[in-house]
Formats: sequence, structure tokens, C-alpha cells
Amino acid sequence: MIFRDAAYQQCIHPDCGAQFGIEQVVTGCNICGSLLDVKYDWNQAGTPTDWSYYQNKWGRRYAPLNFSGIWRFHELLPFATPEHVVTVGEGQTLLQQADFVSKYVGMDTGNLFLQYEGMNPSGSFKDNGMSAAFTHAHSVGAQRAACASTGNTSASLAMYCAVSQLMKAVIFIGSGKIAYGKLSQALEYGALTVQIAGDFDDAMKRVQEVCRELGIYLVNSINPFRLEGQKTIMFRVLEQLGWEVPDWIVVPGGNLGNSSSFGKAFIELKQLGLIDRVPRLAIINAAGADTLYELYENRGVRWNGGHIDRNVLQSYYDELDTSNKKASTIASAIEINRPVNFDKCLRALDFCDGVVRKATDQQILDAKAKVGIGGIGCEPASAASVAGAKMLREQGIIASSDRVVCILTGHQLKDPTATVAYHTTDQDKFNEVLGVRGVSRANFANRAVAVSNSLDEIIKAIKLYG
Ligand code: F0G
Repeated sequence: MIFRDAAYQQCIHPDCGAQFGIEQVVTGCNICGSLLDVKYDWNQAGTPTDWSYYQNKWGRRYAPLNFSGIWRFHELLPFATPEHVVTVGEGQTLLQQADFVSKYVGMDTGNLFLQYEGMNPSGSFKDNGMSAAFTHAHSVGAQRAACASTGNTSASLAMYCAVSQLMKAVIFIGSGKIAYGKLSQALEYGALTVQIAGDFDDAMKRVQEVCRELGIYLVNSINPFRLEGQKTIMFRVLEQLGWEVPDWIVVPGGNLGNSSSFGKAFIELKQLGLIDRVPRLAIINAAGADTLYELYENRGVRWNGGHIDRNVLQSYYDELDTSNKKASTIASAIEINRPVNFDKCLRALDFCDGVVRKATDQQILDAKAKVGIGGIGCEPASAASVAGAKMLREQGIIASSDRVVCILTGHQLKDPTATVAYHTTDQDKFNEVLGVRGVSRANFANRAVAVSNSLDEIIKAIKLYG
């Protein structure tokens, strides 16, 4: 048996609810076109509802499935049988109490935590979801897997293909910004890299067409199995807080896979009785890619029991088309105007009493510098979570006594260009070098000190600045 009987796929639209077998490769409802969930009959799955069961696995981490930060929660995503799971040891992440950043955000000492997903083998949170989607792809006998990507998904897919040698990776990137750290991974791991003349939103559309045409397995987060793996980020946060639920989870929003999966995680944990309350969710867009913010906060679009007001959505997307407005931000990972998980994200916001904010490139880069000074750096998109927490704190929505977890989605070395430009470039050339607009000051720049090659001058400089 490859798949578990207790698992199936189901359309999320309340008026449709069509069910599909777990072995089917559909990535969207054939009947009404909505997104699909992976669902479980928890009783049949026999999922333990006591955290100590999961905790005890750590003592047996010589077994790869117990070592993996995804698969030691296997019973909470029980779609595959253990022998078909593909793991490279992902999910060894860190929840860091970050008092330095806490001060910047305006929290009481000890109340701000950074969930550092940059520690994953490919350097971003994507490995959580990729391990799950890859497991499904392998289980259905896929030979090739594809994704559109702003960089991290492609790095992760390329890594799973290369390490396992089970599939060939085909990745689509836009011709705009892709951070070099990420591109270098895809190239080095041997992925077929297709750079199309367009942005991420164009690449996302094309990859779906190509996958349908050529029967390639699609691993973007529209694939519901990706989200199953990403639920475990929340399990690990709870684990590291001694199974106590924090007050807030703050996460950057791009294609909205993470936020959607976090919502699903809390819905299921509540159903299973593993938690008795739910944290609030804050999703932070970049100001230059603010579809969710605009639709949720300004135009009032809500989950509404699954009956989302499509007219408002459509007129917004029509406006984008008419004005030819493209997403543009230094946080290239979230430079996305048409998030594929929009509906599921609304469900998450509904369940977690969520809010959405947008952070400017200036706020993102300054927050990133503050995270960096704390020692564990991140890429620009990740810092949107910290910038957003600061904003919500200033607005009095987050209290200084709340317990807040910001998700740092990607490693600092993913995008060295942005970091080096921030710290070294003259203010007037800043926007030009970074290819952005609106960043007026590198407020926390750590400038290199230029000295002549003379012992006296070097000593003088160290005494002056040290
Ligand atoms: N942070 C980083 C570092 C990312 O790479 C992404 C998404 C996000 C945040 C946004 O997460 O889509 O779940 O809302 N990167 C995708 C990619 C789109 O192709 O690597 P989301």
C-alpha cells in the first residue's frame, strides 16, 4: 500500500466539496476549479492526540523519519505510508528568543521569537512543503516535477531531485529579479532552468499549462500536499514553546502557502484537541506586492464560509491588467500579485482572527538589518514579518506583553546583493543599485571603513571606530 486509506482530497468550496482519491494528481477541483485540501479521517488514521507521543520520537532520532522535522509529525499528515516518504533530514529549525529584535519591535523582553527556517537544507522553509509534495510525486510514480519560482521553491525542488535522484527538476523563473543565492542552487543542483520573458505571475500561469500538457508533476503551493508539510512549521513552534500556543504568528505573504497551511494546522490541532486556543495570524505583504492587503483590509473581502466575493477579486485583477501594474519590491521572494492560495489564506485569516499589513522596502530592509545585528540573518522577504510586527505594535494591535513568533522564511545568504548594497552603497545611489524605488536611508548600515595600506592608518581607524 502506497497511500493511507484514511486520507483523501477534497474541494474547499462549500457548495461543491467534491472528493478525490489521495493517489490522484489534480492540484485543483475538476468540477468547480477551487483549491483542494488533503483531508483525513482522524479516527481511522489513529492519530495520537497527546503531544508526548511526538516528543518521544526525538529520543529515537537515529531513524530518519523521527529525525525529520516534518515526518516526526507524520501522524498529523498521514497521507503516505512511511516506506514511501522522501526525507533529506529537513526541518531542523530553531526558535530563537530574540531580545535584541524584541526591543526594536517594542515588545517586552523575552516575548519575541524568531522561527528560523533558514536552517533547512536548501536554506528556506520550502523544504517543509517540498518533502511532502515530493513524497506524493514519488508515490504516484512521477518522473519529472516542475515549479514556477521566485527562487526558493526552485532551489528546494532542485535539491530534492538531486539528492534523491528520483526525478528531474524543471523550474520556471521570471526574467526580473531572482536572488543569486537561489539561482546558483538551481543551476548547481542540475535543474532544467527555463527563464521566461515575464514576471513570477506569468511564470506561474505558464508552468500550470506546461504541466497539464506534458504530464509533469507540479510542486507549487497550489499543490495541497505542499501545505501538509508546511503545517509542521507550526508544530515545531509549539514544540519549542513547550506546547504552549503563542498570541501571534507573524508571517510574510507571497503566494500565501505558508499562511494557508498555518491556518489548516490550527484548525486540525483544535479538532484533535491538541490545542485549546488559537493564535492570531498577521500576514505581511510587501507594499509593492500588496494584493492580499488591498483585498482584505481595503476592499473587505472575507472567507465568508467559503462564499468569497469573486466580483471584488475580478475587478481588482482587471484593474491590475488595465494599468499593467506589476509587483515590485526588494523582497523578490514575495514579488507576487496573484497569489494562488488566496482562498485558503482567507480561511486561515478567518479561523485565526487575522490581520494583514504591508511593509515598505525601507521598513523591510531596516528590519532585516536589525535581525542581522542579532546574529541570525535573513533574506529581505523574511524581514517583512519583523517589520509587520513592529507596525502592529505601534498601532497597539499587538501588546508589548503578547508572545509573538515571527517566521524568518529564508537564509541570509540567499540574497547577498541586497545586504551588501544596504551596508555599502551611498544613499543617493541606493535605489539605483538595488533596482527599487523609495528606500531613502540605510538606517542601520554597517559601513566598511576604507583605509590606506599603512599600519599607522589601520591602527588609527580601529581606535576611532572600534
Ligand atoms: N519568504 C520567502 C523567503 C519565500 O521564498 C517566499 C515564497 C515567501 C516568503 C512567501 O511565502 O508564498 O507561502 O506566502 N517564495 C516562493 C518561491 C514564491 O517561489 O520560492 P508564501
